[in-house]
Amino acid sequence: MSEARPLENRVAVVTGAARGIGRGIALRLAERGARVAVIDMNLEAAEAVAVEAGNESFGMRLDVSDRPAVDAAIADIVERAGRIDILVNNAGINRDAMLWKMTDDEWDAVISVDLSAVFYTCRAVGTHMRANGYGRIVNVSSASWMGNIGQTNYAAAKAGVVGLTRSISKELARSGVTANAVCPGFIETDMTRGMPEHLFAAQLEKIPMQRAGQPEDVANVVAFLSSDDSSYVTGEVINIGGGYKL
Ligand code: NAI
Repeated sequence: MSEARPLENRVAVVTGAARGIGRGIALRLAERGARVAVIDMNLEAAEAVAVEAGNESFGMRLDVSDRPAVDAAIADIVERAGRIDILVNNAGINRDAMLWKMTDDEWDAVISVDLSAVFYTCRAVGTHMRANGYGRIVNVSSASWMGNIGQTNYAAAKAGVVGLTRSISKELARSGVTANAVCPGFIETDMTRGMPEHLFAAQLEKIPMQRAGQPEDVANVVAFLSSDDSSYVTGEVINIGGGYKL
């Protein structure tokens, strides 16, 4: 980074930021100077992250898969903070099952939170950024977008995020708005700690760097993509996995 607080005076929206990778991203953007709207289903935890972040950051309860609520929340944030410069779509869920066991509900839940919600926020915030002539959008996909056992729904959604991101990067490029995707590999959070121990150990063995990633490993790359240091980088898909690739 060219300066200690390169995001000073920037307003950032980070979804799913009450814990895990999203929390790490919110704190890192704030440390670099941004005021952060910490969005999550869990308001209490989101507010605690906002207090930790400082810079007049604030927590908001929002289900990102609820389209009318997304539009209202984005309008609310613009009203409160004046504008939005950075959008990080991090909220995500998994409902893993083999194809022959996957229910309609498991499919629908993951597609709506991991893909449709990214469209809702990108449309609402992207329209605003286009009018402002400036913006940084970072969408959190996953190494699993390449296809993974037990993750038909999740891989489809995360591959969708890559296609969506590359498309909007082309549409918004002339308006000073960049859009990039990051693909975390295996990061230690509540999501992965919920795995059976033998599967967790098996994942570690596949990582050339021989350790699970930490939320900060993802947050550092997102901070770069949220800054002016990446102003000529758009439509990229960046793996953050210690060398791990499917
Ligand atoms: P996590 O489960 O620890 O945290 C996710 C956060 O999103 C929670 O605070 C949750 O309340 C929130 N959230 C869930 N549904 C929401 C909704 N509808 N509206 C608003 N907030 C909602 O997950 P983790 O591990 O921090 O993952 C964050 C992102 O990174 C997800 O998109 C995940 O798919 C992706 N990812 C994670 C990897 C890992 O190894 N942990 C690997 C690759 C991608």
